[in-house]
Amino acid sequence: MSSTLETLSNRSSIRQFLPQPLPKETLQKILSAAAMTPSGANMQPWIVYAVSNEAKLKEIGDAVIAAMQSGIENDQFIQYYPLEWKNPYKKRRVETGVGLYSLMGVDRKDTQTRTQMWHDNFRWFGAQTVLFVFTDKTLIEGASGALIDCGAYMQSVMLAAQSLGVASCPQGSTTEFGRVIAKVLEVPDNLALLYSIVLGYADKEAKINSYKPPRITLEEHVTWIE
Ligand SMILES: Cc1cc2nc3c(=O)[nH]c(=O)nc-3n(C[C@H](O)[C@H](O)[C@H](O)COP(=O)(O)O)c2cc1C
Repeated sequence: MSSTLETLSNRSSIRQFLPQPLPKETLQKILSAAAMTPSGANMQPWIVYAVSNEAKLKEIGDAVIAAMQSGIENDQFIQYYPLEWKNPYKKRRVETGVGLYSLMGVDRKDTQTRTQMWHDNFRWFGAQTVLFVFTDKTLIEGASGALIDCGAYMQSVMLAAQSLGVASCPQGSTTEFGRVIAKVLEVPDNLALLYSIVLGYADKEAKINSYKPPRITLEEHVTWIE
């Protein structure tokens, strides 16, 4: 198998990191590689805030958790998930969630632990670097191409990271609180947060990091016309 194929199959979402900072040099390598992501008309719509300041990450997490605790369910620029889930996607979402909770021995009714696990997103799973990826609002008003490009950028970041031994977790949880985060980061008004990516070194002993949700088969998603 080529190293790219290996990198693709070895990457998985990591949800417990070691308290070990990511050297700036390594982060620069990841970002330089990801900057080669192709985009329509080479518009390169990704606008990245690379945050490794501990106090700032805590401030962002505190602001999001405070928003949630005040009853705000989301405060976002884009709606990532469908408002109404239909099958087969609903079934896949439920199976993926159930798989993670049962691996961790968390009961379906244990809302306290589930809430804690949700909050762990905003404590960055113990990682010390988070990329917040924005785009220009003018690119996504009535158009979706920049979202496709920024999705490709996400995968580039994660694969570049993986090839350097750096683990990652993509986060749509932050998408839901994009406005809260934009405010704390004091970004210009023309920017919309799309997602974040947590980066760092995986705690290889942590049970949660052994979770590898299965994929559907080629038969389920490829139509061959030969
Ligand atoms: C756009 C996007 C948003 C995601 N948001 C979250 C998130 O907020 N929290 C989380 O723990 N995992 C998140 N994930 C990880 C998915 O749950 C994960 O990619 C999926 O279950 C497949 O598992 P794998 O990445 O380990 O292969 C997200 C993934 C993507 C691509």
